[in-house]
Amino acid sequence: MEYSHIPVLLSETIDGLLVKADGVYLDGTLGGGGHAEKILEKLTTGRLIANDLDGAAIENAQDKLRRYLDKITFVHDDYKNIQSHLDDLGVGELDGVLLDLGVSSYQIDTAGRGFSYTKEARLDMRMDREQSLSAYEVVNEYDEKRLADIFFEYGEERYAKKIAAKIVARRKTHSIESTLELAEIVASCYPVKDRMVGGNPAKRVFQAIRIEVNNELRGLQEFLMEIALRLKKGGRMCVITFHSLEDRIVKNAFKELEKDCVCDKRIFPVCVCNKRKEVEIITKKPICGKTEDTENKRAESAKLRIIERI
Ligand SMILES: C[S@@+](CC[C@H](N)C(=O)[O-])C[C@H]1O[C@@H](n2cnc3c(N)ncnc32)[C@H](O)[C@@H]1O
Repeated sequence: MEYSHIPVLLSETIDGLLVKADGVYLDGTLGGGGHAEKILEKLTTGRLIANDLDGAAIENAQDKLRRYLDKITFVHDDYKNIQSHLDDLGVGELDGVLLDLGVSSYQIDTAGRGFSYTKEARLDMRMDREQSLSAYEVVNEYDEKRLADIFFEYGEERYAKKIAAKIVARRKTHSIESTLELAEIVASCYPVKDRMVGGNPAKRVFQAIRIEVNNELRGLQEFLMEIALRLKKGGRMCVITFHSLEDRIVKNAFKELEKDCVCDKRIFPVCVCNKRKEVEIITKKPICGKTEDTENKRAESAKLRIIERI
């Protein structure tokens, strides 16, 4: 299957990064390499560290971006581990960081990866195919409460408890093997009138399982706060999110970084917290994806937030 992914908010992100020809940039979520390519076009003596958890993304980019191989270093890992790779590579401060979170269209469209609720496949959803936990273990081994909590927390699914109960009941007769079987169980928990509105009923449960399998939210805030401090003065970080849970984490991390001393002045007239404003938030409101000028449905829910290190 061809690796196909239309980058979202492309010009807004590249303009936001203020790419310098001799700068050092990190793309933590390389995917189809669309954003990476635009960064590379602007580099002369600069360098791009291109990271992805999915080996297929790295393999594809090694070919797609072959013109720029002298300027790229590929890393195949969770971006949350990037700091030690940067140390090993002798990279100090960064001129810019990009994170375009979530799944690529390639991952969704490749049936065998098991991300899609409309394509028959074994339950999988692993971005890193070397990892042992997949959607299969989550659906077949987690207890009912844990499943309900995940559906509610990561999917904001209102029928979370009912769906978890039905999954556990089904498991008593046989294990749930496929994406379409899971989608059918979820749909059957929805009242008929609700099945027709708000898209496929399985959307939120699939999102929740994907977040659990790939550990997408835990540690994101800490990562953003740490990597921001690796930016040079004037360096920028652009983060694109696709759902409210992620966006909230990014917004909160950026607000924390922007805060100056947080001491209660009535108790501590002289600062004891040593918290200093580290960044300027460039996007007071997020830049939202549009669909009028693109075929890309994913763009609809995209939000871009940008900060600058001070
Ligand atoms: C939306 S796509 C990125 C698209 C890319 N910006 C482009 O222009 O083609 C998201 C990518 O992030 C990767 N990804 C998701 N979570 C990750 C993580 N924790 N660490 C590294 N890569 C991750 C996915 O494997 C996927 O390839």
